[in-house]
Amino acid sequence: MTDTLRIGVVGVGYVGLTTAVCLADRDHDVVAVDIDEAKVARLSAGVPIIDEAGLPDLLTDTLAAGRLSFRTDYEALADRDVVFVCVSTPSGPDGAADLGALDAAVSRLGQVLPAGATVTVKSTVPVGTTRRVAERLRPHGIGAVSSPEFLREGRAIADFTHPDRVVVGADSDVDAAVVCAAYGADPATVLRMSPESAELAKYASNAFLAVKLSYTNSLAQLCHRYGADVGDVTACMGADARIGPSFLQPGPGWGGSCLPKDTAALVHSARIHGVSMAEVEAARITNAAQPGRILTALRQSIACPLSDARITVLGLTFKAATSDTRDSPALAVCTRLAAEGATLSGYDPQLAAIDAAVLQSAGVTAVDDPYLAAKAADAVLVLTEWPQFRDLDWTVIADHAPGAVVADTRNLLDPQIVGAAGLRYLGNGRADGF
Ligand code: UDX
Repeated sequence: MTDTLRIGVVGVGYVGLTTAVCLADRDHDVVAVDIDEAKVARLSAGVPIIDEAGLPDLLTDTLAAGRLSFRTDYEALADRDVVFVCVSTPSGPDGAADLGALDAAVSRLGQVLPAGATVTVKSTVPVGTTRRVAERLRPHGIGAVSSPEFLREGRAIADFTHPDRVVVGADSDVDAAVVCAAYGADPATVLRMSPESAELAKYASNAFLAVKLSYTNSLAQLCHRYGADVGDVTACMGADARIGPSFLQPGPGWGGSCLPKDTAALVHSARIHGVSMAEVEAARITNAAQPGRILTALRQSIACPLSDARITVLGLTFKAATSDTRDSPALAVCTRLAAEGATLSGYDPQLAAIDAAVLQSAGVTAVDDPYLAAKAADAVLVLTEWPQFRDLDWTVIADHAPGAVVADTRNLLDPQIVGAAGLRYLGNGRADGF
């Protein structure tokens, strides 16, 4: 196997674009195809299109070195050794993953790829999909592998470059070897398994994270009722190596482009097989209840009814370090507050990158300054864990919104500082909170 491979990538969303630039940075020759002409034009001009640390430089460097190109025509993949399929697989109304984009990509790849090529499914797909892809491609002499991606938004380049694990689900050693060579991974360290196990491993990991988070949010509610502190409780839990300290931070609920859709797809597909994933279903129910919990806390702590309240929202993205608002718990809370008649002004460090129509439909008036956003507020609601919010001058916020309640759903702020400014601090899962 040569060190430098001819690699194709189909779909340049978060996973596809990260895969393309990182593999080109490993000196492979990479052609990335997407049906979106505008995206392809912008990427070809070196515009990164997503906000990820390290991505702009990698994109510029690999384009300039001639190791990466973006195209809309599948014919550009005609000489590829291996193609990573990274198209989106959104949830349908019943939770089932929509495989329309994947099916279309596989049809085109069957037509253009040379015999001996390997198609690697990186999109999160229902168990059994890669084997069906393999059956469709076998008559063309093309192999198929499942290699799910575990990168997190906001840390995409770092996660891709230094993954906790590399999973290769392949029946054929030849196909597995070319995928390992593309990653530059030592086959001895790769988790090699069947395509079915690889596909399920991705859903199993994301669903477990969702269960852990919903458990934490339920614990937070219980801590408040008992007068305990969720930070102390999770510090104890996290010190147990069997539990681990990550994903134990309470919040307004979990969101983003993966956890909601992957848990829905897992529950749906398990049900078809007569298996109840009760833990995952419960995690989804708990998650859907989080906005209501926050609304109750506000109702009980501000002097006026929510219909008359002015509420400042700090943080609109689904988590910090991203401009992504897909399935954002922050916007779910805003939508509920707006439905109650509250007046919402919202600030986010990534405000400029957030679609105005998205904010409008959540009832949020965007204000590009956190202090001005707080003007005359009855409550300031921290919904995303942007570290900048901790460093705000809370005495200035108190001047703009005297006596306001500060509901910190992420337990990000220093309660002492907020209290000393004359504001009433409510922590998530704390005695003086909700
Ligand atoms: C997730 C998985 O982590 C990743 O492995 C997979 O490939 C894609 O889905 P991502 O969607 O980028 O990644 O977000 P993640 O960092 O996992 O956060 C998910 C949600 O959980 C966010 O809404 C986040 O705010 C929330 N969260 C996370 C908490 O509320 N508390 C925590 O302690 C951690």
